[in-house]
Amino acid sequence: MLKMRAVITLLVLLLSMCVSQTRSTQTEVHTESQSTGAAAAAADVSTQLDVSAELRELRDMVVELRVTLRFTQDDLRNTKDLLNKIESENYAQDRELTAVKTEMMNLIKYNLEQDSELIAVKTEMVNLIKDNLAQEAELTAVKTRLAASETEVVNLREEAAAQTADLRSVTERLGATETDMDHVKKDTAAQHTDLTTMNTEVMNLKMELSASETEVEKLKMEHAEQDSELTAVKTRLAATETEVVNLEKQIREKPKVAFSAGLTNSGFIEAGSTELNLVFTKTITNVGQAYSNTTGFFTAPVRGVYYFRFTVMDGLNSRYMHIKMFKNAKQVMWLDNYDTDGYAYLSSGVTLQLEVGDVINTRIPEGSRLYDTSDNYSTFSGFLLFVL
Ligand SMILES: *[C@@H]1O[C@H](CO)[C@@H](O)[C@H](O)[C@H]1NC(C)=O
Ligand SMILES: *[C@@H]1O[C@H](CO)[C@@H](O)[C@H](O)[C@H]1NC(C)=O
Repeated sequence: MLKMRAVITLLVLLLSMCVSQTRSTQTEVHTESQSTGAAAAAADVSTQLDVSAELRELRDMVVELRVTLRFTQDDLRNTKDLLNKIESENYAQDRELTAVKTEMMNLIKYNLEQDSELIAVKTEMVNLIKDNLAQEAELTAVKTRLAASETEVVNLREEAAAQTADLRSVTERLGATETDMDHVKKDTAAQHTDLTTMNTEVMNLKMELSASETEVEKLKMEHAEQDSELTAVKTRLAATETEVVNLEKQIREKPKVAFSAGLTNSGFIEAGSTELNLVFTKTITNVGQAYSNTTGFFTAPVRGVYYFRFTVMDGLNSRYMHIKMFKNAKQVMWLDNYDTDGYAYLSSGVTLQLEVGDVINTRIPEGSRLYDTSDNYSTFSGFLLFVL
C-alpha cells in the first residue's frame, strides 16, 4: 500500500514536469505566430534571425532538459532505492505486525480462558455463599431449639426439685459419691482396680439416678392426674357455689312471715254472753305484717304451710278456762282446763296448710276469761314453714 502510493506520487511528479515544459513551448510558438501575422512583410529578415535564435534557444532548452532528465532519472533511481528500502521496511513491519497479531490472539485466547475461569470461580463463590447462608439459617434454628431445650430443662429441673424429696436425697448421695470418687481419683494412677470398682459404682448410681428419674416421671404423671382431679373438684365446687348462691337467693326471696303478740297489759279479758274474739294487742314480732293487733286475725299472704301456737293463762278458782282456734271461721281446736286454785295455762300448737287470704284467729266462749299483764302470760304466735 505504502509502496503503491510512493510510485504513484513519483509518476504524477514526472508527468506534471513534462506537461509544464511542453505547455511553455507551445505558448512561445503560438505567441510567435501571432506576432508573425501582425507584421508579415516587414519582418522577414528579422524572422530568419529570430528562428535561429529560437533554435539556439531550443537547443539550450533541450540540453537543459537533458540535464533535468538526468537529474530526474537520478531522482527516480533514488526514489526507487527509497521505495525498495520502504518496501523492505514495510515487509519487516508486516512480519512484526503478524507476530503482534498472533501474540494478541494468544492474549485474547488467554483472556477468554481467564474469563471462563473467573466465571467458574464466581459460580463456586456464589454456591459457597449460598451454602454459608443455609448453614447460618440452620445454625440459628439449632440455636433456637437449643435455647428452647435449655428452658425446658430448667423448668423440668425446677419441677423435679419442687416435687420430689427423693431426688434431693439421691442428689446428696450422688454428691457424697462424687467426693468419694475424687479421693479414688487421687489414687487412680496406682490403683486401676479401684477405678474399675468406682466405674461399677458410678454405673450403679447412674442406674439409681435413672430409676429416680423414672420415679420423677411417675410423680409427674401423678401430679398431672391430681391436677385433673383438682380441676374436676374445682368444677364441682364452682357448681356447688352457684347452687349455694341460688339457694341463698331462694332463701332471701322466700316470703318472711312470723309474728308473736301478747294479749294485754290490763289484767282480765272477759267474754260476756257471747263468744269473744281475742285480740293480742301487744305486738312482739310481726315480720310480714300478716297479723293485725287491732283485729287479732292472721291473714295468709302466700300459699303454704304455717305453724300457730298459743299459751294463755287464767287465775282459776274452781272454774274452767277455754280457748278455741279458727281457720276461716271454722274451728280448728277447742281446749279446756279446770282447777280449784291458782294460775293455770292452756297451750297448744298446730300446723296448717293455708291458701292466700285464709285467716286464723282465737276466741273464748261466753262467760270465759283470760289474764295477762306486762309479764306476757298469754301470747299468740305463728310463722310460715314453707311456701307451696
Ligand atoms: C300494733 O301494730 C301497729 C302496726 O304494726 C304498731 O305500730 C303498734 O305499735 C302495735 N301496738 C302495740 C301495742 O304493739
Ligand atoms: C312483754 O312483751 C313486751 C313487748 O315485747 C316487752 O316490752 C316486755 O318487756 C315483755 N315483758 C316481760 C316481763 O318480759
